[in-house]
Amino acid sequence: MTAPRTPAVGAPTARLEGPAKVTGTAPYAYEHPATDPLYLHPVLSTVARGRATVVHTAEAELLKGVHAVLTSANAPRLADTEDAEFAVLQSDEVAFRGQFVAAVVAETPETAREAAALVRVEYEERPHEVELDPGHQDLHTPRESDTGSPPDTRQGDVEAELARAVVLVDEVYRTPRQDNNPMEPHTTVALWETLPDRLTLYDSTQGVHTVRETMAAVFGLDPENVRVTAPHVGGGFGAKGAAKAHNVLAGLAARAVPGRTVKFALTRRHMFSLVGYRSPTVQRIRLGADAAGRLGAVVHDSTGLTSRVKEYVEQSGLCSRMMYAAPARATTHRLAALDVPIPFWMRAPGEAPGMFALETAMDELAEACGVDPVELRVRNEPGADPETGRPWSGRRLVECLREGAERFGWYERDPSPGPHRDGQWLVGTGVASAVHPRANNPGSVAEVEYGSDGRYTVSIGAVDIGTGARTALTQISAEALDCPVGRVRLRIGDSDLPGATVAGGSSGTSSWGTAVFEAVRAFRDEHGADPGPGARTRAEASHNPDLERYAMYSFGAHFAEVRVHADTGEVRVPRMLGVFSVGRVINPRTARSQLVGGMVMGLSAALHEHSVVDPRHGHVVNGDLAGYHVATNADVGGVEAHWLDETDPHLNPMGAAGVGEIGIVGMPAAIGNAARHATGLRVRELPLTPDRFL
Ligand code: MOS
Repeated sequence: MTAPRTPAVGAPTARLEGPAKVTGTAPYAYEHPATDPLYLHPVLSTVARGRATVVHTAEAELLKGVHAVLTSANAPRLADTEDAEFAVLQSDEVAFRGQFVAAVVAETPETAREAAALVRVEYEERPHEVELDPGHQDLHTPRESDTGSPPDTRQGDVEAELARAVVLVDEVYRTPRQDNNPMEPHTTVALWETLPDRLTLYDSTQGVHTVRETMAAVFGLDPENVRVTAPHVGGGFGAKGAAKAHNVLAGLAARAVPGRTVKFALTRRHMFSLVGYRSPTVQRIRLGADAAGRLGAVVHDSTGLTSRVKEYVEQSGLCSRMMYAAPARATTHRLAALDVPIPFWMRAPGEAPGMFALETAMDELAEACGVDPVELRVRNEPGADPETGRPWSGRRLVECLREGAERFGWYERDPSPGPHRDGQWLVGTGVASAVHPRANNPGSVAEVEYGSDGRYTVSIGAVDIGTGARTALTQISAEALDCPVGRVRLRIGDSDLPGATVAGGSSGTSSWGTAVFEAVRAFRDEHGADPGPGARTRAEASHNPDLERYAMYSFGAHFAEVRVHADTGEVRVPRMLGVFSVGRVINPRTARSQLVGGMVMGLSAALHEHSVVDPRHGHVVNGDLAGYHVATNADVGGVEAHWLDETDPHLNPMGAAGVGEIGIVGMPAAIGNAARHATGLRVRELPLTPDRFL
């Protein structure tokens, strides 16, 4: 699998849609122009568990401009209600606070909102439980996972290795619930046409085909009669990685007013119960090592929560299966099923909380052994993947650590644990590793067409969620076609285009690019090097046997400098530096933006992000951007993202891995480890708020 090397790939091409975005002419889903649209505003449950016994709608219905008030009593019946998340308004059961119990469709957004406020709901409340408390709750082993990984693994004689360890770390690490807050909240614009029944959604989503499939199944429509487009998307981070209940509600509303377009934008508050979130975790890590810090055993037991009505598991233990060499290891995942909204993907699901725990524990081990934290990691470098025994497609963690240490000035630090004072500030530095699977998901299809204007049109139902995927995929197409970028017209963001996998798991560029390469190869086979106008070929990415032969991961090393105020406990991070091994970089400008963005989101997780749930009522108390703090410019000092010059020869024809998620992984641990070095205090729970240092 060698690619022709044209200048297209590797160039810092500016986002092709950049001018349209900054001039406000790039359409987002909600802005889809429609004649006389109607607007939807939902009514959310105010109890965490029970039944909405009576929904009083008369007052709302009398309001001028109201077209419909939907409740479980009058909403159209759905064809498939097996998945509780999508069984919207199909019964009066309330499974969590903030669930849809009614919705108003009206002529203006203001009227819809006002009418929704007039809907009065009587509840029969039942006792509920919303806080993760592993010591007092029934835990179960997850039944399923979105990655297909087993919940538990065990290798070697764990007990014997722990018993003979000279140095033992045995600690519990906690991460809080975090909620996705992309700039653009979830929006969907729905149109239901009849004869035949046909549903069109303009949707802020990471996957037009996945939303189409879900909508078709839920509404009992032929997928051919469902169309989903996502022209531009203002971020997703996983929260838009699948259809959500609001898509179904919009579809129900549109069906109630056929021929009229219904617009639905979730408010920021709505998002805190309806689009998924990162489960809180409680993670016990046990590391047994010899005096030199060589690991004998790695044990990672992770507990999270899930909703009682639909299971989702935050797979925090996966990283401990492959990160470091050890003759014995065990990982477990357990869940408490509670009366909470349904958790889902949030940037680097699993790795983000998991690597906070593992990389903090590694720092504790380094300190206990008196070994430099960089050297400790180098010492535990596995030759092959400890989980599968497969060779790495390219594991260059050690180079990331070494280059990062060099660039950061790591060895200038005083290795003693701290405190280290500089006036009123305590100052320290920390390091942590990063990891993320390199994905190449099967199933994407691309089409190449040669036009009479001498340009190629490349079509694939991919989505650019703001990452620069449109630009990178155009560059990849130019490379595959061996032509300049200007001769490629890329069409994405529409389920009428050839099927594409979701923009998630840092898999988009890799998976879609593979399909584009295949389509170009098939096009050349069919039409030769000198095609005539109208020549067209479609191809699906064929199976890549290397995906089962090699362990494919991206790696990175984070370094951070932290200052903690001696009197107030305020934590500042003047400097973050990461070095990453992510295969070949398609576009250094957009790649850097993804890596820096990930690091900043890691900073955000380290210092701020925490959804505080009120156990009495089950809602997030700080469910808006005034209360849910995310890192802003004022929090960010110097951020540098570097990468190794490399190609992954096994992953895909481009040799490129995804860059969307790895930046967040390990960043909170590097900051926490730096805070420990600064203050002498070890904080094993995120976020690192000032009170923890007083
Ligand atoms: Mo990402 S959490 O896979 O969209």
